[in-house]
Formats: sequence, C-alpha cells, structure tokens
Amino acid sequence: MKEKTLENLKAAFAGESQANRKYLAFAKKADVEGFKQAAKLFRAVAEAETVHALKHLAVMDGIKPTKENLEAAIGGETFEYQKMYPEMIKQAEIDGEKGALMSFTNANKVEEVHAGLFKNAFDNLSNLKDEDIWVCPVCGNTFVGRAADKCPVCATPKNKFMLIK
Ligand SMILES: [Fe+2]
Ligand SMILES: [Fe+2]
Repeated sequence: MKEKTLENLKAAFAGESQANRKYLAFAKKADVEGFKQAAKLFRAVAEAETVHALKHLAVMDGIKPTKENLEAAIGGETFEYQKMYPEMIKQAEIDGEKGALMSFTNANKVEEVHAGLFKNAFDNLSNLKDEDIWVCPVCGNTFVGRAADKCPVCATPKNKFMLIK
C-alpha cells in the first residue's frame, strides 16, 4: 500500500477507536444523568465508529491469522510495559500528576500480565483449555482459569470481576 494512505488509515483507525471508547463513556454519563435517548445515541454512534475502525484495520491488512495476531499482541503489550508506560510514569512523577501516575502504574502492571497471557496462548494455541477468564473492572487485570480473591494490582474483590464470554 502507498505510504501516505497507509499513514492515513492508521490515523483514522486510531481516531475511530478512540471515538468508540469515548462515546461509550459519554453514554454511561448520560445514563447517570437520566438522558436515556442521548445515551442511546452515543452507544449507536460508538458502534458505528467501531464499524469504521474495523474496516480501516481490514483494509490496511491489520488482521492476520490468529498465530500472527498473538505475536502482534505480545509485541504491543511488551512495548507498553517495558518502554511506553515506564517513560510515562517517570514523567508523571516529575510533573506531580498523581491521577496520571496511578492510571499509568496500574496499566503498566496489567500489560505485563497481558503479555504473559498472550505468550502462553501463542505457545499453546492448539491446546488451550476452555477456562473462565475474568477482568478486574478497576485496573483491567486479567485472570485465566482461576481468579485471585482480590486483585493483586488494585485490591478490588473477586465478586466485582467481569466474567468474559
Ligand atoms: Fe494490555
Ligand atoms: Fe484490579
């Protein structure tokens, strides 16, 4: 693919992906404020942005066979916990930005967990057991097979974890 269009697809994929998460957050807020129809509109457009994001990703050949996708995922998570978040954490410390520091620190710990889970899936793709998987709703920590009684990253109790289908 020609370089500029590929760059544009990457930028559009990033923007549409962000819009999806942002509108879902806005929908929750609208629900809390009692604006039901506005919430529905945010959720509808969030879905539409996902349609756009996925199309952009497909067109730039960003979706490969699962073995390769796992490799890409390991690379992404590893970059995040080894390089991206450590630098962001340092800067947040320098800037005294406590909220950002906590958000980065929690994410950093969890990305390392994710890298490990993807690595295990990569190594054992054909023999992965059918096990329950949970996600901590506070920090995103992810548990396969057995969930801790409380999240080792943020101390949220197990009964709050989201069971993933
Ligand atoms: Fe992650
Ligand atoms: Fe957590």
